[in-house]
Amino acid sequence: MKKLLFGVIALGMLAACNTTEETANLTEDTNARTATASRKSCPSEEIRAELLKNDAKARARFAAIEAGTEKFIQAKKLGRVLADGTVEIPVVFNVLYRTSAENISDARIAEQIAVLNKDFGATNTDINKIPAEFASVAAGDTKVRFRLVKTVRKATSVRSWRTNDAMKKASTKGIDATDPTQYFNIWVVGDMGSILGYATFPESAGLWNDGVVLAAPFVGVTGASAPYNLGRTATHEVGHYLNLRHIWGDATCGNDFVADTPTQTGSNGGSPTYPLYNTCGGVQRSVMFMNYMDYVYDSAMYMFSAGQRDRMQAVVAAGGARAGLRNL
Ligand code: ARG
Ligand code: ZN
Ligand code: CA
Repeated sequence: MKKLLFGVIALGMLAACNTTEETANLTEDTNARTATASRKSCPSEEIRAELLKNDAKARARFAAIEAGTEKFIQAKKLGRVLADGTVEIPVVFNVLYRTSAENISDARIAEQIAVLNKDFGATNTDINKIPAEFASVAAGDTKVRFRLVKTVRKATSVRSWRTNDAMKKASTKGIDATDPTQYFNIWVVGDMGSILGYATFPESAGLWNDGVVLAAPFVGVTGASAPYNLGRTATHEVGHYLNLRHIWGDATCGNDFVADTPTQTGSNGGSPTYPLYNTCGGVQRSVMFMNYMDYVYDSAMYMFSAGQRDRMQAVVAAGGARAGLRNL
């Protein structure tokens, strides 16, 4: 349907250009000066008209560009791509609750969204804790934001959940995702043992199980469970969803594919004291344990790096693995 529409538009434009050409020729006969002026003003379109008339592949490219442009403009209208290029990701919360405490309130969900928007916008109040040493590689505004579009709730008798994605399918006592190609689904479950949350990476974009799972005690701030009660489990999991690895690269002195995060020996926990030195490959480095992609307490993490920002932006960019989040 869309293709047909753009085909018609393309034909219309060809016709319009032909008309312009004829007008130009006519004018040429009557007034040479005006003719020269109008030829100068629109030779590109005339050349293009010739190209599109003779080259089916060029017509296809033209149609694809127009379709992509239209999508972008519609996304902008919906506020998904803001004027400065910020991508506002539409979020669906799927809440599975056994107890009333697990049925987290709308206010708490709003609080969680607000935390994400602060952490990803670098407007978190603890951002001034970033050591001077790391200030130059701090992400600043990642230009990724989140907007709650829907909350789905379902009572369950399931007491504890595992990481087998059962919560993501109605047929296994869960809730089916809302179109994961266009929405970021977050599932909230009552309990996952020692696991605070988990996420799928961009290679799972649009699949039925794509999204983030959070245990209810670690969602939002009010009533959340210390020391993971500043909403940063979501910040960490969204990092994964947008293609960030753990800062230690999930191995001893591993690689997180981010150049500006210093290689560290392993994960950090609790509230480390700065500076903290690790030696990898004979090189001693001060490590960025305050990064959202480490394992420290919520109050001990307060930054993404510029390299991490770039990786996340690549994922939500037009043509990125999660470009669907910016579409209609
Ligand atoms: N997937 C990690 C876990 O379950 C999340 C760690 C989040 N860290 C935090 N400070 N909230 O352990
Ligand atoms: Zn993780
Ligand atoms: Ca690194």
